[in-house]
Amino acid sequence: MSMNNSGNDSGAARWPHILSPFHLGSLDLPNRSVVAPMTRISADADGVPTAQMADHYAAFARGGFGLIITEGTHTDTLQSQGYRDQPGIVTPAQVDGWRQVTGAVHAAGGRIVLQVMHAGALVQENRYTDDIVAPSAIQPAGAMGARYYGDGPFHTPRAMTGDEITAVVASFETAAANGMTAGFDGVEIHGANGYLPVQFLTPESNTRTDAYGGSLENRLRFHLEIMAAVVRGVAGRGLAGMRMSQSRSNDFNYKWAGGVDDAKAIFSALADAGADYIHVSTHQGLGEEFGSGRTLAGLARAYAGVPVIACGKLEDPANGEQLLAAGEADLVAIARGAIGDPSWPDKLAKGEAPLAFDPEMISPFATLDATAAWRAANGVTFEA
Ligand SMILES: Cc1cc2nc3c(=O)[nH]c(=O)nc-3n(C[C@H](O)[C@H](O)[C@H](O)COP(=O)(O)O)c2cc1C
Repeated sequence: MSMNNSGNDSGAARWPHILSPFHLGSLDLPNRSVVAPMTRISADADGVPTAQMADHYAAFARGGFGLIITEGTHTDTLQSQGYRDQPGIVTPAQVDGWRQVTGAVHAAGGRIVLQVMHAGALVQENRYTDDIVAPSAIQPAGAMGARYYGDGPFHTPRAMTGDEITAVVASFETAAANGMTAGFDGVEIHGANGYLPVQFLTPESNTRTDAYGGSLENRLRFHLEIMAAVVRGVAGRGLAGMRMSQSRSNDFNYKWAGGVDDAKAIFSALADAGADYIHVSTHQGLGEEFGSGRTLAGLARAYAGVPVIACGKLEDPANGEQLLAAGEADLVAIARGAIGDPSWPDKLAKGEAPLAFDPEMISPFATLDATAAWRAANGVTFEA
C-alpha cells in the first residue's frame, strides 16, 4: 500500500515534519522522506536496468517514500562508467530498461529522479575502455571498494584535454534528455563523494593551469557547466538537482579549505546555474560545520535559497525530525536505512519501528541479490 497522506494520527503527531507534504519544484511530495542514491551494481552486463531493479525501486514507492533517487548512472560509453554492472543512461536499451523502472515506480504511486555520474579517476571497472581520465594525472588516494568488486589501489588517470571536458559536459546534457525520455521526474548530478566533479573542485586532484584549475571559481567551473547542461537536457520537463559533499569515498574526512566562505560561493553559484534543489551528503547529517552553528545542509539552504535535501545518519527519525524542525533542510534522505526497510515512511506513519540496516544486507557485494538473500535467510518480506 502506498502512503499518500500524512498517515494515521500516531505517526503524524510523532513525526510532524517528516510526514508533512512538500512541493519540490513541480513535484507534489506526500512527505519529506527521500531514498538516497545507492549504487547496487545489479544492471546486466550491458548496463541495462533489469526487472529486479524495477521491483527494487517500486518497493520504496509502495513503502511510502516521498521521492526516490536512483543509483549513480553513467553518462557516456567512454570513461564515465565506474563499476561493474553499473547502469547507464546512454544506449537505447539502457533508456528502455530505465523506462520499466520509472513505469513501476509511477504505477506504485511514487516519484523518481535519475542520478547521473562520471567516475573520473575513481573508476573500478569500465566495460567500454581502459582509458581513465581526470582533471590531472594524479593517482587518487585510498583503495577501491570491495563491495563493488574493487581490489587494490586506484590507477593513475591521464589529464583531460579541453575538448574532452567540453564533450563530457555535452554528455551530461544528453544523459539528462535521455532521462526525460525514460520517464524520470528529474535528474540529479552526482557532484559528491570524490567523483569527476569533485576531482575538479579539489586542489589535490586538480593542478590544471587552464580555466578549470587554480581559483575556486575555476575549480567549480565544471560543476556549474554540467549543472547548466542538465538544466538544458531536462528542459523544464522535470527537476534538475545537484548532490554535494565534502568527504570523498576515498578520503572520508576531507573538508573545503575555505570553510563557510567556500560553502557560500559553491552553494550560491549552483543555484545561479539553475539547480532546482541541492542534496547535501555528510556522514553525520546533524553535525555542525566550520563552527558556523549550522549543518552543511543548513548552509546550503541559507546560501542557495533553493530546497535542500539532507543525508547522513538520518535513519533514526528523531534525527531527521530535528533537522527539519530546525529549518536546516526541507527533505531528509536515507540510504542504508532504506535498504533495511523500504517501508520506512509507512512504518513511521503507522507508529511502528522500521527494520534496522544490517551490513550483511550488502555483503559480500552491494548487489540486489545480496539483499534478497539476506531477507530470505531472515524470513523478511515486504508487500509486493
Ligand atoms: C550501498 C551504497 C551505495 C551508495 N551509492 C551511492 C551513489 O550511487 N550515489 C551517491 O550519491 N551516494 C551513494 N551512496 C551514499 C549514500 O547515498 C549516503 O550518502 C550515505 O550512505 C549516508 O547516508 P546513510 O547514513 O543514510 O546511509 C551509497 C551508499 C551505500 C550504502
